[in-house]
Amino acid sequence: MAEVKIGLVTVSDRASQGIYEDKGGPAMLAEMSRILRTAFVPVQRVIADEQPHIETTLRELADVEHCCLILTTGGTGPARRDVTPEATAAVCERILDGFGEQMRAVSLKVVPTAILSRQIAGTRGKALIINLPGNPPAIKDCLEAVMPAVPYCIDLMEGPWLDFREDCGLKAFRPKHAKKPGA
Ligand code: MTE
Repeated sequence: MAEVKIGLVTVSDRASQGIYEDKGGPAMLAEMSRILRTAFVPVQRVIADEQPHIETTLRELADVEHCCLILTTGGTGPARRDVTPEATAAVCERILDGFGEQMRAVSLKVVPTAILSRQIAGTRGKALIINLPGNPPAIKDCLEAVMPAVPYCIDLMEGPWLDFREDCGLKAFRPKHAKKPGA
């Protein structure tokens, strides 16, 4: 069976220049490892807040690496250099508005500044791309808010079957009729 690949993209001028340590990439990896029982291969990138570069990276992870899920962290706010949502929208064929709505709604219960994140999600081919804010605690809040819907979304996109760990505190929601291929 083909390996399950998950793209983890840190978008940060300073982390990409080595001015500070990338904390977002490890936080996304830790959270995905905590949630997923399905074995996966992380494909990690740390890049600057440059729209063309973000677009190229997202296309590479979707079209060449064949990641079924690509998470980005950072660059979703209102600062001049924040362009991750624009890059995501440019490479996606379809936008799934509910992801951004849900992540902001849940985050607003934690911090009032959650409203500043313009994070979106969308699909490119068989890849689901989800923007997360740069703050590591936000990564956990946002992933917990949307991960229950991710496995079925990937099923519908004809991607691999993803299972959650029993003890992760989340459940992958699938309609009753959803069947694991070959089961
Ligand atoms: N969401 C959660 N859950 N927790 C946070 O700390 N920070 C907010 C927001 N969303 C935050 C959050 C802040 S302060 C900003 S500016 C925006 O995300 C955008 O962050 P980014 O530019 O690092 O992506």
